[in-house]
Amino acid sequence: MNSLIQTLPKVELHIHIEGSLEPEMMFALAQRNGVKLPYASVAEIKAAYQFENLQTFLDLYYSGAKVLQTEQDFYDLTWAYLQKCAAQSVRHTEIFFDPQTHTDRDMPFEVVLNGITAALQTGREQLQVSSALILCFLRHLSAEAAMATLEQALPYRDSLIGVGLDSSEMGHPPSKFQAVFDRARAEGLRTVAHAGEEGPPEYIWEAINLLKVSRIDHGVRCVEDPALVDYLVEHQIPLTVCPLSNVKLCVFETMANHNLKQLLDRGLCVTVNSDDPAYFGGYLNENFEAVQTALGLTNEDLKKLAKNSFRAAFLSDTERQQLAIG
Ligand code: ADE
Ligand code: ZN
Repeated sequence: MNSLIQTLPKVELHIHIEGSLEPEMMFALAQRNGVKLPYASVAEIKAAYQFENLQTFLDLYYSGAKVLQTEQDFYDLTWAYLQKCAAQSVRHTEIFFDPQTHTDRDMPFEVVLNGITAALQTGREQLQVSSALILCFLRHLSAEAAMATLEQALPYRDSLIGVGLDSSEMGHPPSKFQAVFDRARAEGLRTVAHAGEEGPPEYIWEAINLLKVSRIDHGVRCVEDPALVDYLVEHQIPLTVCPLSNVKLCVFETMANHNLKQLLDRGLCVTVNSDDPAYFGGYLNENFEAVQTALGLTNEDLKKLAKNSFRAAFLSDTERQQLAIG
């Protein structure tokens, strides 16, 4: 591993905590909780991770998440991810979680939240990893279901920094969730949304204009609309790009075809992230290494990407400075 990548202080802004469920932990939790998996071994789970697109991944990902059944499971999951952060010089992380994946199989919202937030607190105290939590709505479900989830979360408002939008993008435009995002912003929550991963540039415009997002998750299809690229540069709206994810889900055929360097050179506020590291072959530093090797990134490019991650985070200037040097 390139030593600059290893030692650079970094922020992660696009990580689904359910996507950090390593096959070994999935197998162990299935045994602990008496859940039957359609795989006989860890090797079989790993062999199943061949995806044609976002949906084929999501089908496996939601099925894998069923092994998460108790507060302790969510604690263990989050704790394992935070230890990775500490080992990779990730100073701050803004973590997505998908409550509907769990409440729809009758897990209480607070059991999920309590397990995650307890681990985040231990991570601050024992690992000096700063963190914040973003509740994501599943866009393949209804706008009413998203609103009900937000209502369920509001008693725990102080544990959240914002809301996001994930799951199957095509056919579920950001406009579908305008009312719930309006309500979230009225509660002082920040907003982000997946857009332009598989979906068209119009979805990125909707996320900006209707959901008033502070960042776009993925956003790589912005290049198809020059006026949108101009806008993203002018307003420095960050893109949370996930290189290994994009190749695994066939958004780009190979890493050499990825447009991250093109976006960076064009002046966009690009950041590098892992998305679902247990499914896509690596955590944050492996994503940095993959783009550096395939796209020939310079040390200046790497520093710029790390700097952008601090700029794009929901941190005060004081917090930003302390974390970058601390
Ligand atoms: N949920 C987990 N990973 C995702 C991704 N890459 N896109 C949309 N929803 C997701
Ligand atoms: Zn994602």
